[in-house]
Order: sequence, then C-alpha cells, then structure tokens
Amino acid sequence: VPSLAGKICVVTGASSGIGRRTALDLAADGAIVCAAARREDRLKELMDELPGAGHCYYTTDVSRRDEVAGLAGRVEAEYGRCDVLINNAGFAGASGYSDAWIANAEAVMQTNFFGALFCIDAFLFLLERSAPSNVVNVASVAGRIATPGIPAYTASKFALVGWTESAAPELAKRGIYMSLVEPGFIPTEGFPQKALTNDRFLRYLLGSDEQVSAAIRDAIVNRKAQRVVPRWYYLLQIPRVVTPWVWRTVRNKVVDSSVGRRVQDSRDK
Ligand SMILES: NC(=O)c1ccc[n+]([C@@H]2O[C@H](COP(=O)([O-])OP(=O)(O)OC[C@H]3O[C@@H](n4cnc5c(N)ncnc54)[C@H](OP(=O)(O)O)[C@@H]3O)[C@@H](O)[C@H]2O)c1
Repeated sequence: VPSLAGKICVVTGASSGIGRRTALDLAADGAIVCAAARREDRLKELMDELPGAGHCYYTTDVSRRDEVAGLAGRVEAEYGRCDVLINNAGFAGASGYSDAWIANAEAVMQTNFFGALFCIDAFLFLLERSAPSNVVNVASVAGRIATPGIPAYTASKFALVGWTESAAPELAKRGIYMSLVEPGFIPTEGFPQKALTNDRFLRYLLGSDEQVSAAIRDAIVNRKAQRVVPRWYYLLQIPRVVTPWVWRTVRNKVVDSSVGRRVQDSRDK
C-alpha cells in the first residue's frame, strides 16, 4: 500500500464530520495535516488529537478569496509545498423557498462550489511544485442525482462534479490528479440525517465518515477519478439514466415518506 508518510495534506472543513475524520486518519498514516475551517476552537482541539508532529491549522472561510490566499500563504511559509488538497468544506443551506432563497443559493454556491475553486486556484503553484500531487473534491451523490427539497445544494454539487470532470484531464497533464469523492447519506453535525437514523429500515442506507475518509485515501493513493460512498449508491444512477420515469416515481414515494417523517420529527421537538 503506498504510504502518505510526510505528505503535506490541506483539509478544508476539518473542524467536524468527514473533514475531521479524514484529518485524523491522514495523520495516523504519517501525513502532515494543515486543517482549515472557520471555528478556531474546534481546529485547536483537533491539533491536540492529531497523531504525529508538524501539523498546523489556519482559520479560513473558503467562500472568501482573501482568506483562502492567507491559507495558501501559510502552507507555503510553513512547508513550501502541498502534496494533497482536500476540498471538503460545505453545507446544506436552507431548503424550500424562504424569502431569502436567492441569497441562500449564492451563499451555498460561494462555499460549496467557488470555495473549492478558490482553493485550487490559490494552491495551484504549490501543487505543481509538489507534483505528482492530488486534489480531492468532496462532492455528493446529490451531485449526480437531484435531491428534491435542496435545490441550491444539489446545484452546487452538480457544478462541482461537472467542473471537476472537465478540468481533471488538463490538470493531470501538469501532474495534479483530481478526484471526486461522492458520499451518500452520512450522519454528521451538518447533515444529521435524522429521518434515516430514526428509521429501522432506512438506516441501512447510511454510510459513515470512516468510510468516506477511507475513500478519500483510496482516491489519493490510487488516483481514482471517482469514489462513491457507500459504493453501491453508484448503481442508483442506472435507473436514473435508463428509466428516468420509474426512477422519479420511486424517488417521489421515498421522499414523500421521509419529508413526512421530518415534519413529524420537528413537531415532536
Ligand atoms: N454528511 C453527508 O451526508 C454528506 C453527503 C454528501 C456530501 N457531503 C459533503 O461532505 C462535506 C463535509 O460535510 P460533513 O457531512 O462532514 O458536514 P459537517 O460535519 O457539517 O462539516 C462541514 C465542515 O465544513 C466546514 N465549513 C462549512 N462552511 C465553511 C466555510 N465557508 N469555510 C470553511 N469551512 C466551512 C465546517 O466548519 P466551520 O463551520 O468551522 O467552518 C465543517 O468543518 C461537505 O462538502 C458536504 O456537502 C456530506
């Protein structure tokens, strides 16, 4: 198994969930982690937990280019290289059509889509200097199959998937291997997945942050273009493409029942 020992890995959204798990696992593999997110207290806690030495953090809002430039500057000053950039920072945003739905869509795109592009832009020279190097964009199954009720989030992940697939071949020529990791339903702080965790059948649809972290590692060391987590979610794309009308009927039934359950959950609180 190729080793990540000594690799400089930048992880955005490292203060919780998938990013935090990934930072811990990379460090356990011998990598040196630079963790980025907005909550400094969480990043400080992470620093205490990371195995190994030489890690650092930088408080960053990835939706702001100036802060992303600060992060890249810190990594250059500290290590002079970047072997792996993991664009994981993201959030679901509001669902439905509140008054502020356009503002919500802009904010979601600014973090989930442009945040990743800002990081790639700011780290390009370091990634090129460190080539062969890797970029992992954490998209979503929602970036392949539209999830009803969260149109801005879905659009941001479709955008990230499309951008990555179009840009990857060109970056590969420069020795930068870009991958997509596409999680399904993973219970985390930002995505509690209550409707599924509380259901004795639907809970089998859930994956874990450990699985996503392992897929990110696989994408890096084996230069995988795409990793879906859990793997079998990949098959969901087949009915969606081959028999879209069957897909829509089944999906609407599942969504109706889970939305109903979510409404019930919020009433129960
Ligand atoms: N969990 C799932 O079911 C699921 C499924 C598919 C895809 N994903 C994707 O996986 C990624 C990680 O999500 P998660 O499930 O681990 O959720 P999470 O626990 O809420 O973690 C999200 C992370 O992103 C950071 N973040 C959010 N906005 C940011 C910003 N503007 N600048 C910098 N950092 C920001 C948060 O840190 P701060 O608040 O401290 O900034 C946090 O560390 C996201 O891109 C998400 O879309 C998750």
